Amino acid sequence: METFQARYDRYRASVEESLQSLFLRRKPYNRLQEAMRYSLLAGGKRVRPVLTLAFCEALGGNMQGALSLGVALECVHTYSLIHDDLPCMDDDDLRRGRPTCHKVYGETLAVLAGDALQAEAFRLICIAPGLSAEQRVDAVQALASACGGDGMVAGQVLDVEGLAHDEASLRDLCLRKTGGLLCAAAELGCIAAGVSTEARRQAINYAKHIGLAFQVRDDMLDVIADQDEFGKPVGSDREEGKRTFADLLGLEDCGMLVAEETRLAKEAIAGFPDKRFLLELAENLANRRK
Ligand code: IPE
Ligand code: IPE
Ligand code: MG
Ligand code: MG
Ligand code: MG
Repeated sequence: METFQARYDRYRASVEESLQSLFLRRKPYNRLQEAMRYSLLAGGKRVRPVLTLAFCEALGGNMQGALSLGVALECVHTYSLIHDDLPCMDDDDLRRGRPTCHKVYGETLAVLAGDALQAEAFRLICIAPGLSAEQRVDAVQALASACGGDGMVAGQVLDVEGLAHDEASLRDLCLRKTGGLLCAAAELGCIAAGVSTEARRQAINYAKHIGLAFQVRDDMLDVIADQDEFGKPVGSDREEGKRTFADLLGLEDCGMLVAEETRLAKEAIAGFPDKRFLLELAENLANRRK
């Protein structure tokens, strides 16, 4: 039987290969492409496309189509990271173990690389192989809602403007800024598999809980991580005066919240076929060190 790690590596390898094949033709405005590739191919965990592939495979869907949708999502995620690191946002110098995009290419190209990655994502969905026109439209809508002005971008606004002060509003912030794209990951896998609304609802519910746990763990790692392993600055939230779960609840209660959300995530997919990988993924993310 394929182990958890082998399955994760198999998904991840297909994502890396597909990302490598993007933007191969050199253009006169080559530095833009260079900046896009620099951030995209810097070796993130690829959790979002892995989730898309895992849901699709668990539900017996079209894996080539799911791969395109997952890669599209990784483009949006990478755009969000490039912009998140800019001096006008979190002002960070390290990402995925390398200097941030704007440190290498300058702020103007970093903004434009993010813009172009977002557009590329929607182009990839429009040409995703093996999916019907209805599935592609469904995927465009799911991703646009997750990353737009009521989703990830809304979460970023609440974050940079310091608008969340209590646990309830911080939960809402995290569900938008981080949960949005993780829910989209699950949804895209379901769309590629063409499943019922009930299965999709359960998948989204799993991803919502994973999303909150993921951001709380991220806030904890901003305090306790080893910077070399984490690949981004430690102590950045405090330096920026961010209100995070770590300073609202303290590390111990954060750990309990992560455990509880992970339990709820696992419960949400209790009725799923082939759920072993998804259950283990939830556990692994709860204990991650990077
Ligand atoms: C970082 O996401 C941003 C958050 C939502 C906390 P990841 O932790 O998935 O970053 P990469 O893709 O592995 O670099
Ligand atoms: C950002 O959250 C999530 C995004 C929408 C990019 P953070 O600002 O905590 O993410 P990191 O810690 O920089 O990856
Ligand atoms: Mg941020
Ligand atoms: Mg940040
Ligand atoms: Mg963080």
